[in-house]
Amino acid sequence: MKGVLICGGSGSRLRPLTDITNKSLLPVYDKPLILYPLQVLLDAGIKQIVVISGREHVDQMAGFLGSGGRFGCEFSYLVQDLPDGIAQALGLAESFACGDKICAILGDNVFFDDISKDIQNFDSGARLFLKEVPDPERFGVATLENGKVVSVEEKPPKATSNFAVTGCYLYDSRCFDIIRKLKPSPRGELEITDVSDWYVKNGEASATVLKKEWIDAGTFESLFRAAALVRDSRITPNIRDK
Ligand code: DAU
Repeated sequence: MKGVLICGGSGSRLRPLTDITNKSLLPVYDKPLILYPLQVLLDAGIKQIVVISGREHVDQMAGFLGSGGRFGCEFSYLVQDLPDGIAQALGLAESFACGDKICAILGDNVFFDDISKDIQNFDSGARLFLKEVPDPERFGVATLENGKVVSVEEKPPKATSNFAVTGCYLYDSRCFDIIRKLKPSPRGELEITDVSDWYVKNGEASATVLKKEWIDAGTFESLFRAAALVRDSRITPNIRDK
C-alpha cells in the first residue's frame, strides 16, 4: 500500500496565516500539523509516501520533510497547480501508486484513534473512517445500515446522520479510473466524496467508526482546539529523527 498526503488547496479559511505557509505546516501546539496525518501512515507501516501540495509553498514542504530518511520512509512530491478539489489532487498520484492500493490522508486531519490495523487489513473496495459529530453539515456525511455504508454526501444542507466522513480514505487502484470520469461539483471541484460514492453505490464501501477525538484543523477554532487537545493529552508523534 502507498500513502498519499494531500496538502494542496488554498487554506482560505486560515488566511492570512496561509498566505505565509501551507496550512499543514502551521503549528498544532509544538509541532507542525502535517506530522499528525504523517504519523498515521507511518504507524500503518507505509513506507512510500507522496506529498501533494500547491505551488506556493511546495519548497517549504520539501524543506521540512526532506527525503523521508529521518521518518523511516521515502517521500515523493507532486504539485497541484490549482485547488481543483481533493479528488483532483489524489488523481495526480496515479503513476506513483502504480496499481497499488492507497491510503490517502488529508494534511489537516488529526486522528487520536489508532487506525493502523484497519489500514493494514484493507484489501479492496473502499474503507472510510467515520466520526459522530454534532455539526455533520460541515463535512462529508455517511449513512450506515447494519454496519455498511449506504450513502455519502458532501456537506449536505440537512444531514441524514451525524457521521462525518473523516479525511482518511482507503481505496483500491480503481479510484484513479473513477477520478478520471468525475465531473466538477457545483463549487467547481472534483470531490473526494464522489469517489467514495462510486464504491458505496457498488456496495463496496465499509467503515470504521472512530471512538476517540478527531479534528479537521482547517479553521482557526478547530486548529486551536487541536493544539489544546495535543497539549493536554500530550499526544506527540514519535519522530524518528536521525
Ligand atoms: O476533514 C474531512 C473533510 O475534508 C471531509 O468530511 C469532506 O468530505 C472533504 O471534502 C474535506 O472537506 P474540507 O472542506 O475540510 O476540505 P478542505 O477544502 O479544507 O481540504 C482538505 C484538505 O485537502 C486540505 O488539507 C487541503 C487539501 N486540498 C483541498 C483542495 C480543495 C487539496 O490538496 N487540494 C484541493 O484542491
